[in-house]
Amino acid sequence: MLYRKMPKSGDKISALGFGCMRFPVLDQDPSKIDESKATEMLHYAIEQGVNYLDTAFPYHGTGMGEPGNSEPFLGKALKGSYRKKIKLASKLPSWSIQSRKDMDKYLNLQLKRLDTDCIDYYLLHTLSVDFWANLKKLGVTDFLDQAIKDGKIKHAGFSFHDNSKTLFKEIVDAYDWTLCQIQYNYLDEHYQAGKEGMQYAANKGMGVVVMEPLRGGSLATKLPDAAVQAFQEVKPERTPAEWSLRWLWNHPEVTVILSGMNTMAHLQQNIKSANDAKANEMPGKELETIENVKSILHEKVRVGCTSCGYCMPCPVGVHIPQNFSYLNDFYRFDDKQTKSHTRIMYSRLLSDKEKASACVECGKCEEHCPQHIPIREKLKEASETLLLTK
Ligand SMILES: NC(=O)c1ccc[n+]([C@@H]2O[C@H](COP(=O)([O-])OP(=O)(O)OC[C@H]3O[C@@H](n4cnc5c(N)ncnc54)[C@H](OP(=O)(O)O)[C@@H]3O)[C@@H](O)[C@H]2O)c1
Repeated sequence: MLYRKMPKSGDKISALGFGCMRFPVLDQDPSKIDESKATEMLHYAIEQGVNYLDTAFPYHGTGMGEPGNSEPFLGKALKGSYRKKIKLASKLPSWSIQSRKDMDKYLNLQLKRLDTDCIDYYLLHTLSVDFWANLKKLGVTDFLDQAIKDGKIKHAGFSFHDNSKTLFKEIVDAYDWTLCQIQYNYLDEHYQAGKEGMQYAANKGMGVVVMEPLRGGSLATKLPDAAVQAFQEVKPERTPAEWSLRWLWNHPEVTVILSGMNTMAHLQQNIKSANDAKANEMPGKELETIENVKSILHEKVRVGCTSCGYCMPCPVGVHIPQNFSYLNDFYRFDDKQTKSHTRIMYSRLLSDKEKASACVECGKCEEHCPQHIPIREKLKEASETLLLTK
């Protein structure tokens, strides 16, 4: 296993981290972890040198507001010598915080659930404009300072899924964070915090934890045939998952890649890739291959939105770039399961007023779009295509 230094803490972190959101489950029920299989995988990973585990309050539960089973499972599975061998990361459920007291309440509860005295890396979960404004107002930076002082957490960070790079930079500048966690992969190079955000954080001495390196699996097994063929035509022979992970490890800014692995075979493959993937060593020819696959995926783009946000805010609250991002995902991947997952995301992650279906066709957005996208027409298409009942 190769290790990279978390710049501010000095900890040596394994290049591959274990994302504890997708353990094997029973009866296809995400809240029922298959504890015997998951324990076997976790112990194997640690014995092979994986030393960074990422969990959160709701993982393996029934909804974001509910306590999930990932934390208590880890509490049990890490008993004995395992806890000492790893760095544990968990997250404050930002959406559930109504007061400063809530922050202490959740942290104390999480320490109990994880059966540990101290969480090594504690992150504010999935910061958005609203969550960040609320947490800031309620004194979250004092809370983090105090938790570090009390020895309940060692280092503080945040995870980010918002589309605004300005917000990302504002948060980076607001506190002496040790790390940030961002969605990053070859297809999402400029999405959300993106490369720009990653470099900004790294330049400030922060560690960068990458989540969704395989876009939740779609870059591994759900690529269109032309993309799979493009990978198959070049040497060395690698799976699409390995190409994707190696592209990430080639970035010196990346401290650790989290993958949510739910089979021993995937775990073993990802560990094998992590054993020799160094930064800045991917030859130009291999980078070209990735660019080629990227352009195959981009050819399937239904709407040329770059998420610049010039169209926003929409007077009635439609989240225009996010709707287009889902519409593009729907057409980009041929696989039925990914298409249905995209519809679920559209249905669950956008509020009713943010959905394409809420567009009143005023056309204000079109006055500002630098790509001259017929936004009203494309929103109509998104609303029809992404309907969950289809
Ligand atoms: N803070 C946040 O807001 C947030 C959000 C998302 C994730 N996270 C964290 O980041 C972690 C990583 O994200 P992720 O789970 O989405 O990671 P990911 O690696 O992009 O996706 C995991 C999926 O990829 C597939 N996979 C993994 N290794 C593979 C291989 N070698 N070959 C083929 N397929 C492979 C599996 O899909 P199949 O099951 O389809 O086989 C697996 O379920 C999560 O587990 C969680 O800890 C945090």
